[in-house]
Amino acid sequence: MKTTTIDNLKAIKADGNKFAAITAYDFSFASLIEAAEIEVTLVGDSLGNVIQGQDTTLPVTVDEMAYHTAAVKRGIARSLLVTDMPFMSYGTEVQALDSAAILMQAGAQMVKLEGGEWLANTVYSLAERGIPVCGHVGLTPQSVHKLGGYKVQGREDAAAQKMLAEAKVLEEAGADLLVVECVPSSLGKALAQLLDIPVIGIGAGPDTDAQVLVLHDMLGISRKPPKFSKNYLAQASSIQEAISTYGNEVRGGVFPGPEHCF
Ligand code: KIV
Repeated sequence: MKTTTIDNLKAIKADGNKFAAITAYDFSFASLIEAAEIEVTLVGDSLGNVIQGQDTTLPVTVDEMAYHTAAVKRGIARSLLVTDMPFMSYGTEVQALDSAAILMQAGAQMVKLEGGEWLANTVYSLAERGIPVCGHVGLTPQSVHKLGGYKVQGREDAAAQKMLAEAKVLEEAGADLLVVECVPSSLGKALAQLLDIPVIGIGAGPDTDAQVLVLHDMLGISRKPPKFSKNYLAQASSIQEAISTYGNEVRGGVFPGPEHCF
């Protein structure tokens, strides 16, 4: 595998192919992800749930994200390293620049932020300063209390149209990737068709340009794995094999199946 760049990911989309992403929080798992040639590694703030045992991602701090980013960075060479900006670390543009600087200096190659149109100026500021940005729309776990739980988003037409418009705004502001979480498959497909940048789905159907899963969900060791995940360790003889099979199934269009979609 070549070193993943934003241009590589855009070319994969332009060629009608798919790529895989997965979360990692430490050196050992990151090394397995690298060996499996997974194109994108995400240090997700899901570490609040799967590493720290918190009920939500809200308690996670920038310093914790930086610590895990540095550990993951030591395990990967070619996979593109994206790190989540945690809750309230980008409430203002200035805060976002300060937080992103810490994460990029810890080894991130791109930062991910949850939200829609309100982030346009922040995305623009980061991108203008050479910091690649991944947006995150749909179910945005940092807003769980506002959303009233971990629910499928964008089921109604008006909500779907709003999400499409906000995603376009993020792209126009300079985002290079977009994650869309927990939406009907039709909306995942519409987002991938609308945007030029690659759209990475999680519980967003088979027609996004890429898929991402939380590592602990796909190894079957999370407290409550979501419907949209698949336990790859169940049929594998090693964690390495499980991660490789996931990557191959994403690139081959095998995952997600109908049972993982809304
Ligand atoms: O924190 C995370 O792991 C994420 C993924 C669910 C996309 O944001």
